[in-house]
Amino acid sequence: MKQLIDKLYKTSNLSPAEYKELIDNRNSELSEYLFEKARAVRIENYGYDVYIRGLIEFTNYCKNDCYYCGIRKSNCRAERYRLTKEQILECCSVGYDLGFRTFVLQGGEDGYFTDDKIIDIIRSIKTSYPDCAVTLSIGEKSYESYKAFFDAGAERYLLRHETANAEHYGKLHPKALSLDSRKQCLYNLKDIGYQVGCGFMVGSPFQTTDCLVEDLLFIKQLNPHMVGIGPFIPHRGTPFADKEAGTLELTLFLVGIIRLMLPPVLLPATTALGTIHPKGRELGILAGANVIMPNLSPKSVRQKYLLYDNKICTGDEAADCLCRMKKRMEGIGYHVTISRGDHKSIL
Ligand code: 5AD
Repeated sequence: MKQLIDKLYKTSNLSPAEYKELIDNRNSELSEYLFEKARAVRIENYGYDVYIRGLIEFTNYCKNDCYYCGIRKSNCRAERYRLTKEQILECCSVGYDLGFRTFVLQGGEDGYFTDDKIIDIIRSIKTSYPDCAVTLSIGEKSYESYKAFFDAGAERYLLRHETANAEHYGKLHPKALSLDSRKQCLYNLKDIGYQVGCGFMVGSPFQTTDCLVEDLLFIKQLNPHMVGIGPFIPHRGTPFADKEAGTLELTLFLVGIIRLMLPPVLLPATTALGTIHPKGRELGILAGANVIMPNLSPKSVRQKYLLYDNKICTGDEAADCLCRMKKRMEGIGYHVTISRGDHKSIL
């Protein structure tokens, strides 16, 4: 099995059968070997730097009804909120002073935020903070909308593909959503010139090793700048309330594999990873991740943007979160840096 990791390290490629063999035969010794290689590749590309992104969860209204997600339209117990443009800019101001140079605007698919409103928000942020990157994470839109946001100054877009297997996609989403449209959005974003991020949940209901292999092959083919993966965690207000959560162990293993597949990729140690294990994000960094995404949303709405149960940091000020994160990273020999943290191909 170590030969497969050596091959992946040297060539950034494996066949579908080899990925499957590697995933199905993993054990703690093999994982350690994988993480060593993944760290070497990460350090070669980004040193010991950890890039930070200020996450602004600006609306939890959503027209979609994804079976796994706590802010799905049918969850009538979710307390809905929207931030005003002024509140969003205030988050940026707090974030800028703390050293954030990337702001991620994330929200449900909320019709209230028309293209004009989003464009106005992007322009305002870019005018006040011209040295910062704006990342959008607001779901599926038309080519024209994506282009208009890009022209307004947004330069990165996160849209997880969720699963690259169409049948599996159908088990996680209502009929109105399709894998084909999802993929088309990702290709459109790339075509427009965004730095693009895809990704998936590890251990989502009905996921098999074959699904994971398809995820890896799709990621390799798309060749995104960013990949976000985290364990699935059930939310009590969803049809998947009683499903099992994904594991730390498999998530870390996949983080390591993705680092070797795409050496310069920007790879976050996600909040979901930090939620299933107290040291989840440190372990993510040690498995090859190089980004963390602390929350910049106002404290008053933190408790309301709950995609899954027991989400961490919902009661903390951004400053405290960041301060703790910096210490935790120093504790494992890495440093949070003040920079836009662009993908290597952009520099
Ligand atoms: N557990 C883990 N991750 C989730 N997401 C949504 N719901 C859950 C959940 N229950 C992830 C999805 C989405 C991202 C914003 O959060 O992958 O794309």
